[in-house]
Amino acid sequence: MQLYVLWNLAVLALTHTLPQLQRFSGNPKDDLQAFDSADEYLLQSLLPQGLDSSRPILILGDNFGALTCALAEFKVTSVSDSVVSHNAIAANLNALGRQAALVDPLAPWPAEPQLVLARIPKQLSLLELWLATLKPLLAKDTLVLLAGRDRDIPASAEAMISRHIGPTEKLLGWKKARAFVCQSDGKAPLPLPPPISWPLEGTGFTLSHFANVFSRQSLDIGARLMLANLPQGRFDKVIDLGCGNGVLGLMMASQYPDAHYSLVDESYLAVASARHNLSQNLPEVKADCVANDCLRGFTASSVDLVLCNPPFHQQQVITDHIAWQMFKDAFRVLRPGGELWIVGNRHLGYHLKLKRLFGGCKVVASDRKFVILRTIKRRTS
Ligand SMILES: C[S@@+](CC[C@H](N)C(=O)[O-])C[C@H]1O[C@@H](n2cnc3c(N)ncnc32)[C@H](O)[C@@H]1O
Repeated sequence: MQLYVLWNLAVLALTHTLPQLQRFSGNPKDDLQAFDSADEYLLQSLLPQGLDSSRPILILGDNFGALTCALAEFKVTSVSDSVVSHNAIAANLNALGRQAALVDPLAPWPAEPQLVLARIPKQLSLLELWLATLKPLLAKDTLVLLAGRDRDIPASAEAMISRHIGPTEKLLGWKKARAFVCQSDGKAPLPLPPPISWPLEGTGFTLSHFANVFSRQSLDIGARLMLANLPQGRFDKVIDLGCGNGVLGLMMASQYPDAHYSLVDESYLAVASARHNLSQNLPEVKADCVANDCLRGFTASSVDLVLCNPPFHQQQVITDHIAWQMFKDAFRVLRPGGELWIVGNRHLGYHLKLKRLFGGCKVVASDRKFVILRTIKRRTS
């Protein structure tokens, strides 16, 4: 057993590793740094600790690799619900010549970690999933450190942490970040939060949602408008891009059950929800549910229809670059004559993007807030 005192390691991480990291966000205008004060706070909190090179370290919700890369000389498993985060962490690890296991929230996590470092997610449902999954894995001596930016920490986070894990100490605020430290109280773990389910109005379908899935409490109003105006025609291959719970793909499949469907989202928990919803409601339909960053790696000119209700933020940052990437990817994977249908907030000006890429678009429907745009790929590049 080898014990390291982390002073050197943490200082090295703070002064050397963090400044080298990139966000790999795909947004050319993104000049933000790839770590924030909550990452620094977590690493600084390790300064007086000793670590054992034979026992696992668990990292939850690392954004771009600040925590994973800093500790990668130990046995690190980095859990995230985001493919985009995992891709950035993998790219940063690679650039530094380091390695770590990257796993999704529903995959097995290592037991008896010596240390857990967690970024507190904005969504309480995800924090609850982290904590309930974590508790049965904790050893008596596991140190659990959680931190987040003040503005992102849900009000009831501290109570939830102590309810699930055990006595929790709130550390002093630092650079608009806050950290909590706790250890297991040894009591029986609370049950994993069950998925939230509700009937999809006007259908016999039920939609279920794991933690962190977009609009998990009720149908999104943009999606509602799209469902009232679904495309009609002949479609063999359909993609629901940014599928969330899979509602657009599901309702399209209920009208065109012979087509093949790909439901794609960057959230593993969204993809797991969409897979469940398709298989429970329309088990006979051929569908792949894939965790992916937009349509990276999908075959060009192969698809008849892409449906998309694009996001307008990535993690905490409001941006339209994901929508732009989705439209570019849709253009690439559509066959000539194939169609992209999007629903979006009127003020986002998606028609301008579609004009640039596809040469134009038509308004299919609109209401006070949302608009549905349809565009056709008429050229090959
Ligand atoms: C506005 S929600 C739409 C969800 C669902 N289609 C609906 O209409 O209710 C946008 C979805 O895009 C997903 N998303 C965000 N960035 C993505 C990316 N880079 N690649 C794939 N999906 C992404 C989000 O996780 C979210 O589920």
